[in-house]
Amino acid sequence: MKIQFPWEFSFGAATSGPQTEGASDKKVESIWDYWYRTQPEVFHNQVGNNPACNTYYEYMQDVELMKECRLNSFRTSIQWSRIFKDPLTLSINEDGVSFYRNYFKAIKEANIDLYVNLFHFDLPFVLEDEYGGWLSDKVVDLYVEFAKACFQLFDEFVDKWITFNEPIAFTRSAYFYNDIYPCHKGTQAYVTANNNILKAHMLAVSFYKKNYCKEIGIVLDLLPPIICSKEDQYAGLVYDVFINKIFLDPCIKHEYNKDYLEILKKHEMDIQPITEFHPIDFVGINYYQPVYVRKQGDYRESGFYPWYYFETYIPEGVRINEYRGWAIEPRVVYDIAKTIQNEYGNIKWYLSENGMGVENEEKFLKDGMIQDDYRTEFIKEHLYYLAKAVEEGSNCFGYHLWTFIDCFSWKNTFKNRYGLVSLNLQTREKKLKKNAFFYRDLAVNKFFIGPSYV
Ligand code: FCB
Repeated sequence: MKIQFPWEFSFGAATSGPQTEGASDKKVESIWDYWYRTQPEVFHNQVGNNPACNTYYEYMQDVELMKECRLNSFRTSIQWSRIFKDPLTLSINEDGVSFYRNYFKAIKEANIDLYVNLFHFDLPFVLEDEYGGWLSDKVVDLYVEFAKACFQLFDEFVDKWITFNEPIAFTRSAYFYNDIYPCHKGTQAYVTANNNILKAHMLAVSFYKKNYCKEIGIVLDLLPPIICSKEDQYAGLVYDVFINKIFLDPCIKHEYNKDYLEILKKHEMDIQPITEFHPIDFVGINYYQPVYVRKQGDYRESGFYPWYYFETYIPEGVRINEYRGWAIEPRVVYDIAKTIQNEYGNIKWYLSENGMGVENEEKFLKDGMIQDDYRTEFIKEHLYYLAKAVEEGSNCFGYHLWTFIDCFSWKNTFKNRYGLVSLNLQTREKKLKKNAFFYRDLAVNKFFIGPSYV
């Protein structure tokens, strides 16, 4: 069966600054640098994000590899902690600016569309330390200054701007789980931080639209909850509201979700709603795994927190990626596309991250190349459903694999590999995996031959 995408459909890969660049000594500390310096034992095998993929020094080689993969587009992020020598006084780090200018210029010269994100979980440490991070209005103002500086310095190279990557993944990990520094703050902090990020997003979009003319959007989570029993309906609703709709509704419908505001009121959470909403040009949706939601069992912490109402789980019999324990459900791509089409005005969107993390991937090394046929299969299945949605009128313009080169993945560091290109941490060799050849043909031809997955 021939799975065909429109000719202009963009196949690319996504990554981020803090996960690839290295050269930590040429910038100020982000929360990741600080956390690793003070608690290296938190990180898998005590590996930090320096040198990561060493992109700061090897960007020309990386761009050559992008060309070999024939990527149509590529997303990375600018590290706030590399742009300013001092994020408080806004004094510019010229070294960081020339790095990004050279890197971005090389990407554009390779004829690759460049999508640039401004925040990928990497707050400059001083802003957490001095102001309490996203709890502070001051940090909102400073983010807007950072965004303005980036627009001014790099707009000529950028095709699409992105204000934030998965804000909920960040606030949830930083304020409820032990996954991102500072690790725990509580529900009010979660609500306030999300609202401040929303404010920062709107201000950056508004400024950009008044002064520049490329496209600007945001990358979000949109995981339609799957519930298996009627009694879990409310749990599903709360999940949807607290994980999906906090950002989707204000960013696309230009209003807060009513259930969200009601639940906050019921639990006496304080929120100062923003009053100015600014339209985005597109939205990116990251999708890795479906989410099965059921009502919370006996476990209750004192006080309100969103997980008070629901828990996520993986039902027995569901196919999973054994390395990550993540369920694999390609059909959800279709559901996402339909939700955007039917509930969010069919806004222009792309699948901004999708991919498969594999532990100990070197065991698939044969004849000097990682034989990752499982990844090709994973991509084909997901694309099958995406193509079906596009055929039915979904306004989807692209697909980005996470990731381009095997990169640092937060607390898991290099445990799970996702790349089109493998990185050998001993020899530092970067080499296309077998799947990259499938992906290259796809990026060139815009179709693949595969089975029907229905
Ligand atoms: C996403 C993040 C990305 C990467 C993948 C595996 O949630 O955006 O940085 O870590 O997960």
